[in-house]
Amino acid sequence: MCCRIMMRPVFWGLLFQWLTNHHLICCVRPNILFIVLDDFRPLLRCYGNQLINAPNMDNLARNSVVFTRAFAQQALCGPSRTSFLTSRRPDTTKLWDVHYYWRKSAGNFTTLPQYFKENGYHTESYGKIFHPGIVSGKTTDYPYSWSVPPYLPSTQQYKMKKVCPGPQGKLQMNVICPVNVSTQPEQTLPDIQSTQHALQFIGKWSNQSKPFFLALGYHKPHIPFKFPEEYLKFYPIDDIKLAKYHTKPPGLPSVAWNPWADLRERDDVRSLNVSFPYGPIPESFQKQMIQSYYASVTYVDSLLGQVFSALDRNGFSNNTITVLVGDHGWALGENQEWSKFSNFEVATRVPLLVSVPGLTGKPLYGPPRPQTSESLSVKTHHNQYQTSDGLVELVDIFPSLAELAGLPVLEICPQNSSNTTLCTEGYSFVPLIRNATNSHISPIVHSWKSAVFSQYPRPSVQPETDSDQPRAVNTRIMGYSIRTDNWRYTEWIQFHPNNFTVNWNKVFAKELYLRDTDSEEHNNVASSPQYQEIVHKLSIKLRQGWREALPLNNYT
Ligand SMILES: *[C@@H]1O[C@H](CO)[C@@H](O)[C@H](O)[C@H]1NC(C)=O
Ligand SMILES: *[C@@H]1O[C@H](CO)[C@@H](O)[C@H](O)[C@H]1NC(C)=O
Ligand SMILES: *[C@@H]1O[C@H](CO)[C@@H](O)[C@H](O)[C@H]1NC(C)=O
Ligand SMILES: *[C@@H]1O[C@H](CO)[C@@H](O)[C@H](O)[C@H]1NC(C)=O
Ligand SMILES: *[C@@H]1O[C@H](CO)[C@@H](O)[C@H](O)[C@H]1NC(C)=O
Ligand SMILES: *[C@@H]1O[C@H](CO)[C@@H](O)[C@H](O)[C@H]1NC(C)=O
Ligand SMILES: *[C@@H]1O[C@H](CO)[C@@H](O)[C@H](O)[C@H]1NC(C)=O
Ligand SMILES: *[C@@H]1O[C@H](CO)[C@@H](O)[C@H](O)[C@H]1NC(C)=O
Ligand SMILES: *[C@@H]1O[C@H](CO)[C@@H](O)[C@H](O)[C@H]1NC(C)=O
Repeated sequence: MCCRIMMRPVFWGLLFQWLTNHHLICCVRPNILFIVLDDFRPLLRCYGNQLINAPNMDNLARNSVVFTRAFAQQALCGPSRTSFLTSRRPDTTKLWDVHYYWRKSAGNFTTLPQYFKENGYHTESYGKIFHPGIVSGKTTDYPYSWSVPPYLPSTQQYKMKKVCPGPQGKLQMNVICPVNVSTQPEQTLPDIQSTQHALQFIGKWSNQSKPFFLALGYHKPHIPFKFPEEYLKFYPIDDIKLAKYHTKPPGLPSVAWNPWADLRERDDVRSLNVSFPYGPIPESFQKQMIQSYYASVTYVDSLLGQVFSALDRNGFSNNTITVLVGDHGWALGENQEWSKFSNFEVATRVPLLVSVPGLTGKPLYGPPRPQTSESLSVKTHHNQYQTSDGLVELVDIFPSLAELAGLPVLEICPQNSSNTTLCTEGYSFVPLIRNATNSHISPIVHSWKSAVFSQYPRPSVQPETDSDQPRAVNTRIMGYSIRTDNWRYTEWIQFHPNNFTVNWNKVFAKELYLRDTDSEEHNNVASSPQYQEIVHKLSIKLRQGWREALPLNNYT
């Protein structure tokens, strides 16, 4: 028995962890590869989407724990990133738009990379990790979070430029933008640039003993869907299916609607003459957007293949913990919605893969996997992956990575944490990782978080042009959403823009969805008499908030 256990790779993983946690191995802290994709919803094969061609992410998934129910705290880049990088929620970071730097507006909070840096790591950032600009102090939070200045790709400046081929060879500012890369400004694209610079770092670091925290932030699949045109071939337009319910639900409160203004300002969508705020997008264009979103994912996957193989070549396969995550989701026509900017599951739910060599799989990288159509003919089964259905939130990543690397654990934040530089409003999901690896060594985890939380601001009850991204000073309503095992419940309540506080007694609208039978969130049953008891219970739980939803008897 003993020897059988000893033979298992997982035993070595646990031993390695134990030794690390107890500081018995001085120089073997694992490296961290932290990958963030922008606006990436859980579309991989490990999430049941057989159409997606992403063999490198799929290989990562096979050596990871795949979290099937991971949620962002707000479906907007700036607030979500500030939230998960500080492990505090938007109401604590005081960031619901993209106009404040938390160190100035909320508190001098220690970030995830900063914590690793302060604990002996070399930390570097390539591409979009912090939301650039004001949100990260116009320095991308250097020098606090990073050992050297972050790398931001120069060609991201063409994001809103007329560089996409349009009719009659005219250049346009489009949503849909497959390109011949050699015709683009600087003959490259932002994510290609970030990859090349990250590869240089990996090569340079192979002879160093200091562990690294390498953050790699891809801009795709965020709009514009600007990608090398050859990736379109993986997704014949006839294979693309519209969302199951692609019409606006009758019971949807107007305050919940996000009018996807970011799409409307682009030339290709503008020429469709879609009426504001509810006019539908023609079905043929819907299919092209879905196709381009998929192609953008495959493009990023090919870049990740280069990164993984460089890590392998340089000897980092068995000592690097990898996290891959999306900052929030993106609606692809569900309920006639596009983009993020809402509390719907399609906007708040994200992919989350965590790979810990020895614990979650074999040393993982290896040569890049080609995007061939053959790789799609291999059928995937859910049970080929180690999954966890536990409810987790992006604020959980910081305490989890700290635990996995053997750094001192984070305390739960006090009620008012504006003076507390280091604490968490999340909860380490490491027990779920151990539970999902079926090691039979650690005890089975029976209960976990009973709910997770997201929120979204609105300027008004009726959709306006700034409904997607209201400034905090123009916000009148905050939508708070709670997701339990079977329910999603949202209340839209009054927000005071003068002092950034809320009035829970003034409720503008409610939404209740039965996740078991209505995973598309098409039928709002909040006013249905038979669900009033549930509404009442969830309303209380929503007001109690995240502290009361933490795993039982297990928190301070
Ligand atoms: C914020 O914290 C950092 C280190 O965590 C410190 O160097 C800096 O002086 C602090 N800034 C302020 C304004 O307190
Ligand atoms: C891409 O553009 C370059 C430069 O104009 C051209 O030489 C090349 O043939 C184009 N490639 C394709 C596949 O059209
Ligand atoms: C590590 O490798 C880099 C790049 O090859 C080189 O510049 C540096 O001098 C090397 N450092 C050591 C300590 O060997
Ligand atoms: C949109 O409106 C413009 C101007 O009214 C018209 O020229 C164009 O044909 C319309 N396009 C569509 C797709 O209806
Ligand atoms: C990792 O792999 C290298 C080379 O294959 C090997 O020398 C080293 O002992 C391995 N480290 C661990 C912790 O397994
Ligand atoms: C938290 O404490 C800070 C500093 O004492 C104070 O400015 C702020 O108003 C407090 N926040 C709340 C919500 O009470
Ligand atoms: C934060 O620090 C200030 C200055 O020391 C103090 O006045 C205030 O009470 C503290 N607030 C909290 C919530 O601890
Ligand atoms: C832990 O694993 C067991 C056995 O696979 C599973 O039944 C249980 O649901 C898992 N616990 C959690 C909280 O996911
Ligand atoms: C915030 O402002 C509103 C509107 O002026 C006021 O009713 C409320 O009492 C204020 N809340 C706090 C905590 O100051």
